Amino acid sequence: MSSLTPRVREIVAVGAMAIVVWLIGAAATNAQSKPVAADASASSVETSRTQHPLDPLSGEEIRSAVATVRKERKLPPSMRFVTVTVKEPPKDAVLHPQSAVKVPREAFLILLDNATGKGYEAVVDLRGAKVVRYEPLPNGVQPPIMLDEFAECEEAIKRSPEFRSALKKRGVEALDRVMVDAWSAGHYGNEPAEDRGKRLSRALCWVRSEPGDNGYARPVEGIVAVVDLNRKEVLRVEDYGVVPLPPEAGNWARAYVKTTRDGLKPLEVTQKDGASFAVDGHEVRWQKWAFRVGFNPREGLVLHTVGYDGRPVVYRASIAEMIVPYADPSEASYRKNAFDLGEYGVGMMANSLELGCDCLGTIRYFDAHLSDAQGRVVTIKNAICLHEEDAGMLWKHTDWRTNQSETRRSRRLAVSMVATVGNYDYGFYWYFYQDGTIQMEVKLTGIMNTTALRPGNPSRHGTEVAPRLNAPYHQHFFNARLDMAVDGEANSVHEVNVTALPPGPENPHGNAFVADATPLRSESAAQRNTNALSSRFWRIVNNGHKNALGRAVAYRLCPGESVLPLAQPGAAVLQRAGFLTRNLWVTPFAAAERFPTGDYPNQNPGGDGLPKWTKADRDIEDTDVVLWYTFGQSHVPRIEDWPVMPVSSVGFALKPDGFFDRNPALDIPPP
Ligand code: NI
Repeated sequence: MSSLTPRVREIVAVGAMAIVVWLIGAAATNAQSKPVAADASASSVETSRTQHPLDPLSGEEIRSAVATVRKERKLPPSMRFVTVTVKEPPKDAVLHPQSAVKVPREAFLILLDNATGKGYEAVVDLRGAKVVRYEPLPNGVQPPIMLDEFAECEEAIKRSPEFRSALKKRGVEALDRVMVDAWSAGHYGNEPAEDRGKRLSRALCWVRSEPGDNGYARPVEGIVAVVDLNRKEVLRVEDYGVVPLPPEAGNWARAYVKTTRDGLKPLEVTQKDGASFAVDGHEVRWQKWAFRVGFNPREGLVLHTVGYDGRPVVYRASIAEMIVPYADPSEASYRKNAFDLGEYGVGMMANSLELGCDCLGTIRYFDAHLSDAQGRVVTIKNAICLHEEDAGMLWKHTDWRTNQSETRRSRRLAVSMVATVGNYDYGFYWYFYQDGTIQMEVKLTGIMNTTALRPGNPSRHGTEVAPRLNAPYHQHFFNARLDMAVDGEANSVHEVNVTALPPGPENPHGNAFVADATPLRSESAAQRNTNALSSRFWRIVNNGHKNALGRAVAYRLCPGESVLPLAQPGAAVLQRAGFLTRNLWVTPFAAAERFPTGDYPNQNPGGDGLPKWTKADRDIEDTDVVLWYTFGQSHVPRIEDWPVMPVSSVGFALKPDGFFDRNPALDIPPP
């Protein structure tokens, strides 16, 4: 952990928790995560030769953007590059490329001067190699935490005599076995004066019993190290009392699993004629679907200009925020609710699937290019995975009178990435189906966050998953930003509820129920929650386009599992992440409204993003609408989730609803 080389860098992280291993270059090997994909005829996609305005920045473009800002602004050595990403062009320029306006190719940079603590935004015109905008961030605005800061935070803490003595009190001597997770500090309004105006982390720690051991089995309870990230020094070590280390190891790596089951014969997926998709640069075409694959440090995987059979469906889709609030009210734990996108960035924490990919068959990968804090290009090899999957039955019928029988198998195209956010791992999967369905699935796995229990103390806000090892209850929230374009930009949103009619003239026999659609006409009317008992869904309609039956074409947003926050309305996390309080928000498209918590949630006291914008109560009928869908699950840990958690899934689907005139998958050829 101490030797940081450009090729192999182990960076201590956080987010929902702890160590991100960033392995760069061929020297990076990890015996515990060899690829498991059978017959993965893998190849990387080269940077597009025919560049599209929505393409992520190439490595050369990142280098050029950094060099341009450095040169023009004469940046001091204390200036760090937080993120360097493509500045997506105006929608009009993408949708109407025939217009005379030349589409700009620009990079957007966030910078931070460690010496002054001041943040900056810059926009670089890449073709002209010039800075077109350079502005300081308002006072108090903290850019997200950089990966480099994870390592710097850990080093600072390990240098601190106060921290070492707190460890000693707990019988921890081997400093090199201590894992420090640089948790974001949040904003609680009760911070001591010395914290004010500083760029902070409130770091938590764990200890390994040997180098390959799972440190999360041994939380070093009660220590919170508050670190000034700009000065790279510990402000103070808060000690909430000694709790002995839990006694048992909890290892998942293959070296620790002494016997493995037998009886598994090979299950091979072969595509002898290759895959059915075609990739050109970042454009993907498959089974009447076409879309562009994007990537940025904050959201990771992004989908652009999604269409079916030449008809637009979604202009842009991404997971735009992710938050995991924990239930434990103890002093060391109540601030656990990292904003994994806004405070860190899941793109920054994307896995290189060279180290292991769970997919079978013929796979195409896309690399992702980022910058480190020094402005150097970091390439995550095979960050995005594209492959086809068999998806069971698509449709079937047997006419028992005539013995005619038809069945079609379903196939889906999966576009995915995996991010390791400290202890947790999140797989983000977008699936495209032949019947026009788009499904989003988040796979939650990895290691649960842990605390230690005092001997004899029951676990009140969690599950004891191993002796004296507590996995606190928590909620996983995701917000999908869906910039819809159902047959064009002018869309409206209706809510459909299936309800029983009261007894009376309309329901004389007691059996009647209806599916009534209610138009959501304004932003305030469109702040809605899911309701499984009324089979609630939302229909995104285009009133200007009718199907064969004369009704407006539409897609429906079908909720899956969803929850609402269990934090109290006045709790800091809900001041800062107000979007959690509704499952659905709808806004008229505004280019600047990208993230449900606003642009800079790190240490932000709150109020930004959706709750603020929607106060204007703008009209959302027959206009370019954006749906913001908050979904998630409350995680009550099981012993079986330890030491590594079997995948738990959560997500939603977008299904055509009168978009076609009948089942669009009738034309799938028989097997
Ligand atoms: Ni969980």
